[in-house]
Amino acid sequence: MAGKAKTVFFCKECGQESTKWMGQCPGCKEWNTFVEEPVKKTAAPVYTAGVLSGKRTEPQRLDEVSSATEARLSSGLTELDRVLGGGIVNGSLVLVGGDPGIGKSTLLLQMCSRLAEREQILYISGEESLHQIKMRADRLEKASGNLLLLSETSLDAIEKVIEEKKPQLVVIDSIQTMFREDIAASPGSVSQVRETTSSLMRLAKGLGVTIFIVGHVTKEGVVAGPRVLEHMVDTVLYFEGDSNASYRILRAVKNRFGSTNEIGVFEMRGTGLEEIHNPSEYMLQGRPEGEAGSVVTAMLEGSRILLVEVQALVCQTNFNMPRRTAAGTDYNRVNLLMAVLEKRLGIQLSFCDAYLNVAGGMRINEPALDLAIVMALLSSYKNRPVASGTIVFGEVGLTGEVRGVSQAEQRVAEAKKLGYENCILPAANLEHMKKLQSKQEGIKLIGVRNVKELFSLLD
Ligand code: TYD
Ligand code: MG
Repeated sequence: MAGKAKTVFFCKECGQESTKWMGQCPGCKEWNTFVEEPVKKTAAPVYTAGVLSGKRTEPQRLDEVSSATEARLSSGLTELDRVLGGGIVNGSLVLVGGDPGIGKSTLLLQMCSRLAEREQILYISGEESLHQIKMRADRLEKASGNLLLLSETSLDAIEKVIEEKKPQLVVIDSIQTMFREDIAASPGSVSQVRETTSSLMRLAKGLGVTIFIVGHVTKEGVVAGPRVLEHMVDTVLYFEGDSNASYRILRAVKNRFGSTNEIGVFEMRGTGLEEIHNPSEYMLQGRPEGEAGSVVTAMLEGSRILLVEVQALVCQTNFNMPRRTAAGTDYNRVNLLMAVLEKRLGIQLSFCDAYLNVAGGMRINEPALDLAIVMALLSSYKNRPVASGTIVFGEVGLTGEVRGVSQAEQRVAEAKKLGYENCILPAANLEHMKKLQSKQEGIKLIGVRNVKELFSLLD
């Protein structure tokens, strides 16, 4: 009797497995993400430290384990090194995720051509032909002749090439095009993506080669997203950006060899990605001077301070329900802050439309943005510009009090570096800085206790 081929269901968002179809994934709570796939023939390999290191499994005393730090290799791009925690760790498996077309292939090809000057590098593409890669490489900087290219999607073939050529670093672009012949599911399915990644993991740990995997983020569609792989790899980087803006942010969301607090900033140009070492200056380009409703604030992104501009437009409404929008920050937070202003200052914002925008396409949800939002709203409401060369940061509470925020000194220092002369900050932060007697020459610090004090600064 020919039995029906066995299948299981996978969530293509998080990889949750089930014997029957479900409308909502119990793992990630996404709807309609279960897809049916044939059961794989071979059992998944079980990882143990012994398998990974090739030695017998035996426990070791903690103090006897050598504490030598991992050998790191500079990628040739300082922004990428920073996000990786100081360079590429040999033998690590790194996932680079992001929307299609954001620039993942460009970033990795640039990294490869710089690395190829010193090391043996292999770039494997399952999406583009060698000719296409060459054309792209020619548009970028001069590529070294040592860079090996391969257009291949079969993992068995790739394994052989890696074992033969023994490169220092391999790029797999993208994991959704790769397949293993012993697995019946199609490329991009949850089981293929999982199994090919675990094969690559074994290669990386067994041979000590570093492997970078590209994974497309997929909203709708049949391919499995990078989230399925996050727990398997050492480091997960996401490449993000607004499709309308040219800057791109590289962010670590998981890193076994460093902090996840780092970001790298790039700009997409005609000649590839350019590193931006001073993002604040870049974000503030083209800012209007002396206009009401425009405020500069200092935000914390990872361990970096970024100066960004917040704009507000408050005008009398022609509707019963005033219109409110917030671009680049939380809409409900803006509504809440407007309610605080209405109550604590007695101004009638409920008769006003209000539009708020974080310029440059950044998305910020840090509480320290509150005071800048409030200042921008008040400045536009009163039609009074904020004194030029001023930055504003602080958290605002429900009673209108201004609360201290973390890393105030660093924020002030970044503003000073860019030539700002005044800084409006929470009084609590100012007192703390005075106590520490930290030197803040060349910039005037104005502490505010509540939104009333802030409002009076606009007179
Ligand atoms: P790509 O690296 O192919 O994206 P991904 O691999 O993440 O899908 O980048 C594609 C986009 O980048 C494409 O829309 C064109 C743009 N681009 C430039 O603006 N300048 C360049 O030098 C290159 C190579 C690409
Ligand atoms: Mg690509």
